[in-house]
Amino acid sequence: MRAAVLGLGMHVPARVLTNADLERMVHTTDEWIVARTGIRARRIVEDGQASSDLAVPAAQAALADAGVAAEDLDLIICATTTPDMLFPATACLVGDRLGARRAGAFDLLAACSSFVYGVISAAQAIEAGLARRVLVVGAEVLTRLVDWTDRTTCVLIGDGAGAAVLGPSRRGGGLLASVVGADGSAGDILQLPAPGSRIPASPEMIARGQHRARMDGQAVFRLAVRIVPEAIARVASAAGLRIEEIDWIVPHQANQRIIEAVARASNLPLARFISTIEHYGNTSSASIPISLCEARRDGRLRPGDRVVLVAFGGGFTWSACALTWGA
Ligand code: UT7
Repeated sequence: MRAAVLGLGMHVPARVLTNADLERMVHTTDEWIVARTGIRARRIVEDGQASSDLAVPAAQAALADAGVAAEDLDLIICATTTPDMLFPATACLVGDRLGARRAGAFDLLAACSSFVYGVISAAQAIEAGLARRVLVVGAEVLTRLVDWTDRTTCVLIGDGAGAAVLGPSRRGGGLLASVVGADGSAGDILQLPAPGSRIPASPEMIARGQHRARMDGQAVFRLAVRIVPEAIARVASAAGLRIEEIDWIVPHQANQRIIEAVARASNLPLARFISTIEHYGNTSSASIPISLCEARRDGRLRPGDRVVLVAFGGGFTWSACALTWGA
């Protein structure tokens, strides 16, 4: 039995933060941000809003799209690096608000790779007969973790959520192959050191700024440009596809220059890469489901298309899956 995406949904906050707004906050320019990242705007939550507040409407849209009732969900996987709190898991909070009384629930943290890890885990649960209806929701409020005085990171990120409902394939579409990877030796190039069991919450921890995300941008860039084309090639080969047979690559949206470099390294036209970074910035594990929603809405993504989802992020982690679009 093959697992397929039965429905999609997304939700982003209404508030838009433009490059012009950022020019008033840090020493940067619209020209620099557009040229180096491709980002023009991003969405940002209101005070008091958390990841589950974005996850719930995205999940409701995906359930309606799939024609699946919340009570019929067997499992909820919340892909997030910015849970509402450490525990209970945000997936439990989302399940409660959806009314998914029968569903097991857990959070999955593989930084920006989490959503694709979640889709692969959901497909495995379905194919193994452990679950029939699984919700995977990528939800992030990264703007809470960023250092708003660090121009190299704060211009990149945005808030948002995107969701997919998976179930047994109805007409032969669905997941063909998957690849996951991790290299903990590169964990320090993208991290949020505290609070955690290593460095618990304390006034000193806050004074040192350890509760803010840190990134060696150039190291992440170099690793992404090496690993993402490899992951695409491996997942295509595992799916029995020649690389030129892939209709759409939906990559994690971190930097338009990374997407362009991956296209060159993969020998694929840039037009086959779905990019939404211009409008939303880097929304971590929400970026791929948001891009899927946008590509379907504008008519690019159609049933029968061969699609590769590919992500990379802190850890260092990566994940890719190939699917035939449609149920
Ligand atoms: O989800 C995964 C997470 N993150 C990523 O994937 C990020 C991957 N890395 C990147 O996207 C890029 O490395 C950045 C966008 C972070 C930086 O772009 P870059 O082309 O690698 O710039 P750079 O770090 O080489 O910096 C070039 C210059 C520096 O100034 P000097 O030393 O040449 O005078 C920076 O201080 O640009 C400066 N700079 C800025 N200038 C204006 C860095 N950030 C900014 C800024 N505005 N926001």
